[in-house]
Amino acid sequence: MIYQACIACGEKYGADEIVYSCKRCGDLLEVKYDYDLLEAKLKKSDWQSLPLSVWRYKDFMPIRDPSKIVSLNEGGTGLHSCQRLVNILGVKHLYVKNEGENPTGSFKDRGMSVGITKAVELNTKTVICASTGNTSASLAAYAAKAGLQCIALIPSGKIAYGKLAQAMIYGAKVVQIRGNFDHALKMVLELSEKHREIYLLNSINPYRLEGQKSLAYEICDQLNREPPDRVVLPVGNAGNISAIWKGFTEFHKLGLIDKLPKMTGIQAEGAAPIARAIKNGKDKIVPIDKPETIATAIRIGAPISWKKAIRAIRESGGTAETVTDKEILEAQKMLARSEGLFVEPASASSIAGLKKLFEAGKIDKDEIVVCVTTGHGLKDPDIAIKISEKPSEVDAEIGSIEKLLGLSRYIPATVGSR
Ligand SMILES: Cc1ncc(COP(=O)(O)O)c(C=O)c1O
Ligand SMILES: [Zn+2]
Repeated sequence: MIYQACIACGEKYGADEIVYSCKRCGDLLEVKYDYDLLEAKLKKSDWQSLPLSVWRYKDFMPIRDPSKIVSLNEGGTGLHSCQRLVNILGVKHLYVKNEGENPTGSFKDRGMSVGITKAVELNTKTVICASTGNTSASLAAYAAKAGLQCIALIPSGKIAYGKLAQAMIYGAKVVQIRGNFDHALKMVLELSEKHREIYLLNSINPYRLEGQKSLAYEICDQLNREPPDRVVLPVGNAGNISAIWKGFTEFHKLGLIDKLPKMTGIQAEGAAPIARAIKNGKDKIVPIDKPETIATAIRIGAPISWKKAIRAIRESGGTAETVTDKEILEAQKMLARSEGLFVEPASASSIAGLKKLFEAGKIDKDEIVVCVTTGHGLKDPDIAIKISEKPSEVDAEIGSIEKLLGLSRYIPATVGSR
């Protein structure tokens, strides 16, 4: 038995009811299961012999008909053991769960695979989202795969070029809003309420988060069901941290793991309402009117899932931290140069946050830490070029290249010479 329920008043809604927030109190919804039934189903399932991917966990997903699954092969991303970074940072055990390895280059694909499958089950023809870039890229791809129309509202001039290119080439109707992400989200909420035939696939839609919870399942399975002590990740609209926490708590409820990690959310200094609430011991966020950061993916002032995120952080005994743009860019370079992992600035904030918290003594040296890097570096090539050394230019001539590289001239050995 699967249904939707309000996280505040508990009001229940049917699994197929198109509803984005509680009609009684206006709060967020989540997808609920009967865990005894699920446990019985899992006993008869071959899920543990399937390869790592979102759909290894199809028994845990709110999908009725597996033949309708819309997939581009999402999930199954690497959990990289980061030995060289460990030596730089001073922590003992660090893994990076690299979500840039997903089909459109971000974690959003996990949610969109489930969200679009639900849209197909509901017989929807048009889907919509507001986006800082990655959501629109992912939604556009999955909508294309399913043959649906896609509309994406983005903040004008404030999304990285790679992401815009993706949404455009996949055929989405891209609308630039003169405003920021928070304005765009307000618009799509209104549009989807007014035009009920348009299905909203922002993370307020609890089905999206069901796909994203698979990230937690994968971390558990990649670590042989020994969950890490801490998961560190960037937080924008706060759907992902909520989804990952749900994933861990479900594995725990089902007896598949016996401890839970501390959820640690990182926000950019100029867009950090959740981190500020956590630091100040508050139960509510104070939205930021004009969020600013170079990490455009998390340039969000009024995160819709703030309540779920604050709960996840507090329930897990985790924390939150802010990082500056400078710290983000340094971390981006450090990760690329020490581990060969090229991630976008928002993703690098997890590494920057880990560094800051560790140096402040807020993370113990012995902890096993997983940092989630949420999107691929090629999404935002302008930044990478701006912060790296410029290439040199010389004639196509060996001597010039040797001179540039500081190589001594090659002297051919003659037979018999020593
Ligand atoms: C690369 C990247 N990292 C982090 C986030 C933040 O995720 P959430 O909005 O679920 O907190 C986003 C959201 O767009 C993103 O694109
Ligand atoms: Zn309610």
